[in-house]
Amino acid sequence: SGHWCVVPAAGRGRRFGGDTPKQYLRIGDKPLVTHTLERLAAHSRVAGFVLVLAPDDATWTRGLIEVLGKPLLIANGGAERADSVLAGLRALPASVAMEHFVLVHDAARPCVRAEDVTRLIERAVPAGGGLLAAPLRDTLKRADGQGRSNGTEPRESRWRALTPQLFRRGELDAALAAALAAGVAITDEAMAMERAGHAPLLVEGAEDNIKVTTPADLALAEFLLSR
Ligand code: CTP
Ligand code: MG
Repeated sequence: SGHWCVVPAAGRGRRFGGDTPKQYLRIGDKPLVTHTLERLAAHSRVAGFVLVLAPDDATWTRGLIEVLGKPLLIANGGAERADSVLAGLRALPASVAMEHFVLVHDAARPCVRAEDVTRLIERAVPAGGGLLAAPLRDTLKRADGQGRSNGTEPRESRWRALTPQLFRRGELDAALAAALAAGVAITDEAMAMERAGHAPLLVEGAEDNIKVTTPADLALAEFLLSR
């Protein structure tokens, strides 16, 4: 009765820079994406994976399948993250019913903690779906377009969306497809679900579940994984 996990890893890492997409950079003895998959695979409630890769990156899969004791399917990613996640959902085995809850987790978050995955499943399944999120710590400014601040947003009601996110396979498929068809740029699953009329549960997660976006983040992830 575990949950399958879609892992989008088809991005190009433009903000990171360099020739090799960030998910393939090494931390210690293995690629970043392998750390991510191994962390999740060690969780008893994770049943298997759909790893979504850019079509050119297929050579990277060989080693991954060998290190995991759980099934791992490969799907071809698309132009935007939402395209990649939808492709991943559609590559899930038929045994994953449309009513089943599936996890979606960024390949670029290698520091995810088992206890956060557990808390997400325990709280978000009865709530109909949800996501890990962290309350905002810094003061949030609204820019006026000329480089000046013209207001301060209330911090109390603002959360940063993390992953994993957990939704029903069929509902998430419909929500992502609708957003893509409407040409709306969506940056996480919860945003697509909100558009479709759902209210995803915010489940507080650890601050150190960082997304590696810049080289400074990679150094931090390296430190966090070495502890
Ligand atoms: N992703 C994906 N398909 C895309 C874009 C992103 O599978 N078309 C994945 C990335 O590989 C990453 C996760 O979604 O694991 C979160 O995206 P992000 O951190 O934005 O990664 P990139 O899109 O690669 O980076 P950037 O936006 O800086 O180009
Ligand atoms: Mg991106």
